[in-house]
Amino acid sequence: MCGIVGYIGYREAYPIVIKGLKRLEYRGYDSAGVMLYDGNDLKLCKTKGKVSDLEEKASKETTTNGTIGMGHTRWATHGVPNDVNSHPHVSNSGDLAIIHNGIIENYAPLKEELIKRGYVFHSDTDTEVLVNLIEEIQKKENLRLGKAVQVALNQVFGAYAIAVFDKKNPDEIVVARLGSPLAIGIGEGEYFIASDASPFIEYTSNAVYLEDGEMANIRLHKPMKVRKIKDDSLVDPYIQELQMNLEQIEKGGYDHFMLKEIYEQPNVIRDTYRGRLHANEGIIQMSGVEDNLEKFLNAERIIIVACGTSWHAGLVAEYIFEEFARIPVEVEYASEFRYRNPIIGTRDVVIAISQSGETADTMAAIKLAKEKGAFVYGVCNVVGSSISRETHAGTHTHAGPEIGVASTKAFTTQITVLTMIALRLAKAKGTLSNTDYHRYLQELEIIPEKVKEALETNDRAKEIASVFKDSHNCLYLGRGYNFPVALEGALKLKEISYIHAEGYPAAEMKHGPIALIDAQMPVVIIAPKQGHYDKIVSNIQEIKSRSGIIIAVVTKGDTQVRELADYIIEIPETSDALSPLITTIPLQLLSYHIAVMRGCNVDQPRNLAKSVTVE
Ligand code: G6P
Repeated sequence: MCGIVGYIGYREAYPIVIKGLKRLEYRGYDSAGVMLYDGNDLKLCKTKGKVSDLEEKASKETTTNGTIGMGHTRWATHGVPNDVNSHPHVSNSGDLAIIHNGIIENYAPLKEELIKRGYVFHSDTDTEVLVNLIEEIQKKENLRLGKAVQVALNQVFGAYAIAVFDKKNPDEIVVARLGSPLAIGIGEGEYFIASDASPFIEYTSNAVYLEDGEMANIRLHKPMKVRKIKDDSLVDPYIQELQMNLEQIEKGGYDHFMLKEIYEQPNVIRDTYRGRLHANEGIIQMSGVEDNLEKFLNAERIIIVACGTSWHAGLVAEYIFEEFARIPVEVEYASEFRYRNPIIGTRDVVIAISQSGETADTMAAIKLAKEKGAFVYGVCNVVGSSISRETHAGTHTHAGPEIGVASTKAFTTQITVLTMIALRLAKAKGTLSNTDYHRYLQELEIIPEKVKEALETNDRAKEIASVFKDSHNCLYLGRGYNFPVALEGALKLKEISYIHAEGYPAAEMKHGPIALIDAQMPVVIIAPKQGHYDKIVSNIQEIKSRSGIIIAVVTKGDTQVRELADYIIEIPETSDALSPLITTIPLQLLSYHIAVMRGCNVDQPRNLAKSVTVE
């Protein structure tokens, strides 16, 4: 996690760095810092808190002039969030400054060694060790910054995206990456550095995404040199044209990114299937699947690896793949999978799902599956991300940048892609009747309209939120396809409103959670007409007879649940298999409004980060 930004050029660096850090705050926001070089000296300002706190502090404490600058917004790993532990970190001589996203795992022995050589450490961070290691190498071997960084990086292990500046050679910034993303924006007489391209899209549309194990010397008025950290070999950097635009990363009139992203769902689901789903012709075409169809068709099983909300999308996919394509599916938390010596065969297909494409555990699970000979397919949102590069093939969701930390549109677009894959395989295998196959295609095509209709539950969700905003606990129940939606509903609530919430399969409730039910306990039940309706009705009755308060998500026109529930939210009718795309919408809205009413920071909930690039 953590966001890094750097600038070297002819403009004032401070406003670029601050604005960039604000765009990267989704990556971490417990402390922030900035370094500027004014032609003579390094000016540093660091603080616990958000980028706005940094701005306030900087306006009082320091001059903010200079055309070279670096900034950092932090999600603490080593050392509590405080002013001292914030980045940039400066070497003992005061010459070098560094910003770092990632973890240097062997920092402790290196630190010990440096202390023996007289180095003094002011912070508890691994990063301060790295900058002093670079300084020590530079001094000992009389090296320029780039070379010293390279030697140092060959002595550390862990993950990093770094930018280092040396005031003795103030016309360059050296950057490197291994396991954490780093983009370099190339302008006329200026360069931008950032964890993703959002900080510089208004300045240039040309960017280079460093690959793992690469470093670059970024020098004013000179072409950038990219080389491999390990063997110093030069690499021809691939300059990409950025697709992102400013509008996509701004709130566009909404109070929060999360709300904007919830409302974007009809459009982004359509963007995700556009050109891939041809309902009238009965065709689904995704090049990644077509090129590897045999691998999918010969799969003994599909293993899905993911984290967080993406894992929930994987659970929905488990039901869909098994039902449509009759392929056995296992869904694994990437963090567990990678450490439990899993049995993976060469006929297994591993699907890795990730919004950011940077989640460290998912990345490690992919590497493990590849080592064991499995074919690995990615479902990622961020084009050019580590996961989309590391997988053998894949399909991008076209959700656009998701900035709210709580994932919403990524979830529904992931389900859209996974449903299309399952349908394509079902067609090839003949596991769905022709009628059902065509019906699902037609239905998927009109899902955006139904999502739009489901968004009309906003006022109702707000009313219900005002009743339950002070609850301490909440239970979410669903069955079948909607069991993962219950998990996702509960995750959304706890992530952004800090209310304890649990998702459970409705029938399993009898084996534990039923003990929690009393007149204070709201129970959100997903009870659409299709699916196991009668069974859900029985579960509702079980809760009712224990005085639980029922908030039910039902199909429009429902009468039976309406009589039993205390509150209902009506959604349009869909088939059972596609219902998660609809039932999830009012749950997103409910959590959103509860969090707003509780005064929580919806887009940047405490302790969380959007992109978890540490294990
Ligand atoms: C973090 C985010 C979640 C996300 C999860 C997995 O925890 O806060 O919203 O679901 O990481 O991220 P990924 O980018 O791999 O989908």
